[in-house]
Amino acid sequence: MENVLFEEKDGVMFVTINRPKALNALNSATIEELGEVIDGIEKRKDIKVVIVTGSGEKAFVAGADIAEMHVLNAMQGRELARKAQKVFSKIEHMPQVVIAAVNGYALGGGCELSMACDLRVASEKAKFGQPEVNLGILPGFAGTQRLPRLVGKGIAKELIFTTDMIDAKRAYEIGLANKVVKHEELMIETEKIARKIMSKGMFGVSLAKAAVNDGMNMDTESAYKYEADMFGLCFSTEDQKEGMEAFLNKRKASFKNF
Ligand code: CAA
Repeated sequence: MENVLFEEKDGVMFVTINRPKALNALNSATIEELGEVIDGIEKRKDIKVVIVTGSGEKAFVAGADIAEMHVLNAMQGRELARKAQKVFSKIEHMPQVVIAAVNGYALGGGCELSMACDLRVASEKAKFGQPEVNLGILPGFAGTQRLPRLVGKGIAKELIFTTDMIDAKRAYEIGLANKVVKHEELMIETEKIARKIMSKGMFGVSLAKAAVNDGMNMDTESAYKYEADMFGLCFSTEDQKEGMEAFLNKRKASFKNF
């Protein structure tokens, strides 16, 4: 694979979108490669957290590839959106926690990719935006859906309609970025968050991810029942026994993740 690099380090998979000359713009081939990489990671029990970032100094991902997109007809435009939406949904629903390490421009499809991840850690140099209406289109990789769910309808509409690019500090203020860190410390700080999460009972973390994601698409009563099912399921695991025994015996839990 040339457009998406991946490397494992002690249970964390680092995935890098690698088209720095085009500011890591997502062409069709890159979207497909990303889908294949995610399919591979999803099956791996030894990988607990995935960190997604962009190659080079300037960009996380500067959007869908405009050079490839400009000749599309209506059906092809729709197909491209569906293809990327499906890959991003895989990221949203995979059992591992996925963290975007936003190292620069996260625009259009790049902002949308970061929003499909569970958390976003932003370098001070990060810039977020949905500039699609500058191009005569609208966000098509699920930005019209994920952005309002993260920051509320009003600010989402403002960002989409005005195309204003926001810096990391503003992204943090509106809840788009979870944390802002020094540019040179981005990967270290992101890995620290990954390792903190990995020290918990990952079975519970993974089910909590499902409960938040799936529950938000249900009516409230169904979501409560779903949460109760997930809660009950935890009582079939070693982790629940270990976590509670460790608390009661005033020692640190050592989880096996099942
Ligand atoms: N698609 C294709 N190529 C892109 C690109 C994109 N989204 N973004 C940047 N590039 C290319 C540029 O064309 C340029 O290529 P050349 O060197 O061959 O000319 C190279 O990357 C470097 O870019 P710039 O010279 O423009 O760099 P800059 O520092 O002056 O500007 C920028 C940086 C502000 C991010 C600017 O590149 C830019 O505005 N990019 C487009 C951003 C955008 O509109 N993204 C949304 C795309 S649509 C979309 O994503 C739809 C959707 O919902 C999925």
